[in-house]
Amino acid sequence: MKKLSARRRHPLAAVVVLLLALAATGGLYAAFAPAGKAQADETAQSLAIDEGKKLYTVGCASCHGTGGQGTTDGPSLVGVGSAAVDFQVGTGRMPAQQPGAQVPKKPVIYTQAEIDQLAAYVASLGAGPITPTDKQVDPAGADVAKGGELFRNNCAQCHNFTGKGGALTNGKYAPDLEGVSPKHIYEAMQTGPQSMPSFPDTTMPEQEKKDIIAYIQTVNGSESASPGGLSLGGLGPVSEGLFAWIFGLGALVATAVWVAAHTAKAKKS
Ligand code: HEC
Ligand code: HEC
Repeated sequence: MKKLSARRRHPLAAVVVLLLALAATGGLYAAFAPAGKAQADETAQSLAIDEGKKLYTVGCASCHGTGGQGTTDGPSLVGVGSAAVDFQVGTGRMPAQQPGAQVPKKPVIYTQAEIDQLAAYVASLGAGPITPTDKQVDPAGADVAKGGELFRNNCAQCHNFTGKGGALTNGKYAPDLEGVSPKHIYEAMQTGPQSMPSFPDTTMPEQEKKDIIAYIQTVNGSESASPGGLSLGGLGPVSEGLFAWIFGLGALVATAVWVAAHTAKAKKS
């Protein structure tokens, strides 16, 4: 008893009591709060799905079917996930307008809030890749050199070494990656639009995607990344070799002609 009252008077006793009280409050909050929050999230989610369904019926159902099952004018959207919608609508590819080899990018016609609702509706049709968070796509602190290596191994065959893009077969093309937002780069890898393969998180983890995003941002937009002179489209040895051939040989031929003309003149006189 004596011991206890001695402890009570200890200068740290008040602090200990306060900490215990805080822990108890935290525990109580944790026990009760999440249920309420989860319920609120659920209601917000079903509201978003309802709104998304309305937008979908007006803007997308004619090609993708009333339940997203697909028609002859558009593929099924069951299981493509919110990431595919965020990418397709967020880059202005969807809603598509004319049939063609590849749906081009256009000015975006929906707000981000509407895109989120469309995405929520399509995601409710079947599980698929989920729209990444800002934190997931933030390339801060990523390894640019590793990203470059990953890019050359996985992407350069279509998008070129510095992401300048290039033509593919049958009128299709891999676009220039300049100015594409980190989120859309991430989603393109998750969902593999058109003839692009997909790189799901299981085969290419989040960190590798961030490294690639950091690489694309480093080589793109900034001509400063180029050591100087004409970039020649950043096409690598082929275009640089061609440049050397045409201009180098051209200069040699011109010199030869000039020399020949002058010797001829010299002979005549
Ligand atoms: C005029 C017809 C048309 C309309 C309207 C249209 N789409 Fe599409 N959609 C297509 C076609 C065709 C493709 C396949 C595109 C391709 O392969 O390049 C496609 C592809 C997609 C994909 C990619 C599917 C995948 O497998 O990754 C998504 C997501 C999508 N559309 C969503 C939408 C949404 C959301 C809307 C409404 C805002 C919409 N589309 C309106 C024709 C249409
Ligand atoms: C087989 C060729 C191919 C490979 C490999 C490939 N892509 Fe693509 N990529 C494409 C095509 C084709 C498109 C255009 C799709 C469309 O318009 O629907 C595309 C589109 C994109 C876009 C969207 C660009 C925009 O303008 O909105 C990004 C970002 C992208 N690719 C990044 C990558 C990255 C990163 C890799 C490597 C991890 C990669 N791609 C590998 C063919 C490829």
